[in-house]
Amino acid sequence: MGGAKRNPSTVAPRPPIRPIGPIRPIGLIIGAAATDGLRRVSRFLLVLLALLPACDAGDDINAALQRMMVQPRAVDYGANRMFRDHRAMRPLPRGVEPLGRPLPAPIPPDFPSPPTLAELQRGRDRFDITCAACHGLLGDGHSPVADAMRLRRPPSLVSGPVKDFPPGEIYRVATQGYGLMPSYRLQLSPEDRWAVVAYVKALQLRQAIPIVALPAPMQAEARKELK
Ligand code: HEC
Repeated sequence: MGGAKRNPSTVAPRPPIRPIGPIRPIGLIIGAAATDGLRRVSRFLLVLLALLPACDAGDDINAALQRMMVQPRAVDYGANRMFRDHRAMRPLPRGVEPLGRPLPAPIPPDFPSPPTLAELQRGRDRFDITCAACHGLLGDGHSPVADAMRLRRPPSLVSGPVKDFPPGEIYRVATQGYGLMPSYRLQLSPEDRWAVVAYVKALQLRQAIPIVALPAPMQAEARKELK
C-alpha cells in the first residue's frame, strides 16, 4: 500500500521562536561556560577566583605571570647554543609535510622508465639552468655561489653521499627541497625533474667508469686520449 502520505495541513504548527531578551552578565558567563571554545576560559577564571582568597595579594599572581612571560625561550632567528649549528629554528626533519596539504604521490626509488638520449639532453639543459649555479656545471659543488654559501655549501652531486642516492632521492630533493635548498617543483615539471636526475646520474658516471664499460668506438677514442 506504500507509506502513508503526510498531509502538510495536518502537521501541528510549531511554536514561534522566542526572541532573545536582554542578556544579563550571569547569562553571559553561563553562556560562555556552555560554549565549547569558551568553556576553558571560564574554568580558568573560576580557578583564579578560587585561588584569590588564598593569596595575600594579587601581587603573587602577577609575579607568577611575569615569570611565565619572561622565562628563557628561543626566539625566531635567534641563537641557541644547545644545537651544534647554534640555530634556534630547527630545519624540518626529512619528509615533513605541512598540515592540511594533500600528501604528494609516493616517489618511486628508480626512474619511471629508462632515460632516453633526448631526456638526457633535456636534463642537461635544465640542470645547467636550474642547478648548476649552485652545484657547478659538472655537479662537483664548485661554483661562485657555492663559494659564497659558507654556512651550508651546496654539496657535490657526483661524489660523497649523493653519489649513492637512488634516482628517486635526487628527484625528491628537487621536488621538495632540502635544508637551505629550495624546492624546484614550480620551475621543473615532473618529466623535467626526472630528466635532470638522469643527467646527474650521467655526471656521476663520467667521474669514474672502467674503460672496458664504454662502447668500442669510445674505448678506442679514450685510449688515444689517455696515451
Ligand atoms: C640556490 C642554490 C641551489 C640550487 C639552485 C640547487 N641546490 Fe641543491 N643544494 C643546495 C644546498 C645549499 C644544499 C645543502 C642544503 C643543506 O644541507 O641545508 C643542496 C643539497 C642538494 C642535494 C643533497 C641533499 C641531501 O639529502 O643531502 C641534492 C641531491 C641536490 N641539492 C640536488 C639539486 C638539484 C638536482 C638541483 C636542480 C634542480 C639543485 N640541487 C639546485 C643549493 C642549491
